[in-house]
Amino acid sequence: MAGGVRRRAAAWAAALAPCALLLLLALAAAVLLRAYGPRAPAVPRRWARPRGTPAPPGTGGGPRGAVRIPTVSVSPEELNTTAMAEFGNYIKEVFPTVFSSKFIQHEVVGSYSHLFTVQGSRPDMMPYMLLAHMDVVPATPDGWDVPPFSAVEREGFIYGRGTLDNKNSAIGILQALEFLLRRNYRPRRSFYVGIGHDEEVFGRKGAKKMAALLEARGVKLSFLLDEGSGVLDGIIAGMKKPVALIGITEKGSITLNFTVEKEPGHSSFPPKETSIGILAAAMSRLEQNPMPNMFGYGPELLTMEHLASEFSFPLNLVMSNLWLFSPIVSRILSWTPSTNALIRTTTAVTMFNAGVKINVVPSSAKATANFRIHSAEKATEVLETVRNTIADDRVKIDVIEAFDPLPISPWDDQAFGVHVFQRTILDIFPNVDSVVPGTCVGNTDSRHFTNVTNAIYRFNPVLLKSDDLPRIHGLNERISVEGYEKQVEFLFHLIQNCDIEKLPEPHANSHEL
Ligand SMILES: *[C@@H]1O[C@H](CO)[C@@H](O)[C@H](O)[C@H]1NC(C)=O
Ligand SMILES: *[C@@H]1O[C@H](CO)[C@@H](O)[C@H](O)[C@H]1NC(C)=O
Ligand SMILES: *[C@@H]1O[C@H](CO)[C@@H](O)[C@H](O)[C@H]1NC(C)=O
Repeated sequence: MAGGVRRRAAAWAAALAPCALLLLLALAAAVLLRAYGPRAPAVPRRWARPRGTPAPPGTGGGPRGAVRIPTVSVSPEELNTTAMAEFGNYIKEVFPTVFSSKFIQHEVVGSYSHLFTVQGSRPDMMPYMLLAHMDVVPATPDGWDVPPFSAVEREGFIYGRGTLDNKNSAIGILQALEFLLRRNYRPRRSFYVGIGHDEEVFGRKGAKKMAALLEARGVKLSFLLDEGSGVLDGIIAGMKKPVALIGITEKGSITLNFTVEKEPGHSSFPPKETSIGILAAAMSRLEQNPMPNMFGYGPELLTMEHLASEFSFPLNLVMSNLWLFSPIVSRILSWTPSTNALIRTTTAVTMFNAGVKINVVPSSAKATANFRIHSAEKATEVLETVRNTIADDRVKIDVIEAFDPLPISPWDDQAFGVHVFQRTILDIFPNVDSVVPGTCVGNTDSRHFTNVTNAIYRFNPVLLKSDDLPRIHGLNERISVEGYEKQVEFLFHLIQNCDIEKLPEPHANSHEL
């Protein structure tokens, strides 16, 4: 995933519990009936466990060989293309059946990305796509327990940059496919596998080109699965069991440059206001006046509703009664940066530059701010709000980049992808009862595919604990050997589960999840 601490967004405020308890004292009687009454219909659980499907054979070296190849993206202009080419050779070597299969077409896109077209036996069934990326953010050995590109295995974990983001998926998808092919499997439903090479730096040469290629060929996908969220264990406060959170949208982004120009002068007779003072006041106003709290207008509400009954007491009562508690819940969510990011467009002043000499009043001051846009707002609205908040014509505003939040993918009884994920997740992760939709606060390569599908889902079939989150883009990134094997098993079953032609008929009393 590109960007900073995005995955923390899934972490709900631990502070929720005590506050909820206080409220409850006053309101318990009023809400008790509702909490145990009928719930909002969710996607039903239609497939019982166990299904007796065999697990794939041992997964050998897994992603280790790939982690040792330093496929680092620093900026769109600075990629280690030597390593990216090496990655291409590596996958040819370790997945020979994928590359020699008669019904798989392999193409190199944008010089280093890989697009596989797997022809199913039933061309009338709408294809789907699995997406991953090979590139990683830079890592130096400072602060790591092992060198970041060594793929050392310790106490059941493989350490290294890219073990979670996102070579686990790139290698996992190909490994699952290789297993299936070796068992003489041929899918009924066609699918695509995309492995991008510049996701960490906007994906314009890899994923964007793959998407354009599919669009030019007139391809429409029934769904696309990319990285994003995961199976969250102990991350959402008040949840007894791990929760599979699937991103159905991503926040948008707008970056603005602010400039104040003034006559330069000597510090012995300064003007009343300098460019620095004017710009600093403007930036301060932006921080003092955050964008509005949008809790209830985006998928974060859906997340809460789906999880309501899974929370332990007393949070279950609160979450089942958002009609009453929404104001307090939204306020509590705003206290912690990770949950605040879910409920509003965030404001981050990221650069500030002015002045060259201790006794010269500078002619200009410059600042940059990055806003991540909540799914209920648009980039143009954010720009308008920023202008109104700054309310000072002396501050010139330039738009550096802007894109709107991604459309919200379907999450209902008719959504094919959701059904297949649900079936596969419940089979592979026996501890998971809840498969719920949510927002990705960071961005992924999947955002380039909006013209080929409206059903984009962001989910890594990996169990994540709260101490895993800072490892992503941080120090000591790692995946457990067992976790990786489960990911391959998930993909192995997902591909087979996609061969169903039609969704089962809904039947009464099936609103289980
Ligand atoms: C780029 O990758 C190559 C081949 O994998 C490696 O030998 C080289 O050290 C890498 N370059 C940098 C700057 O990391
Ligand atoms: C925006 O501001 C940043 C930081 O001052 C600067 O690096 C960048 O070049 C500016 N971009 C434009 C297009 O002015
Ligand atoms: C989708 O198609 C429209 C119209 O051709 C184009 O302007 C837009 O850039 C495309 N979007 C993406 C994400 O490629």
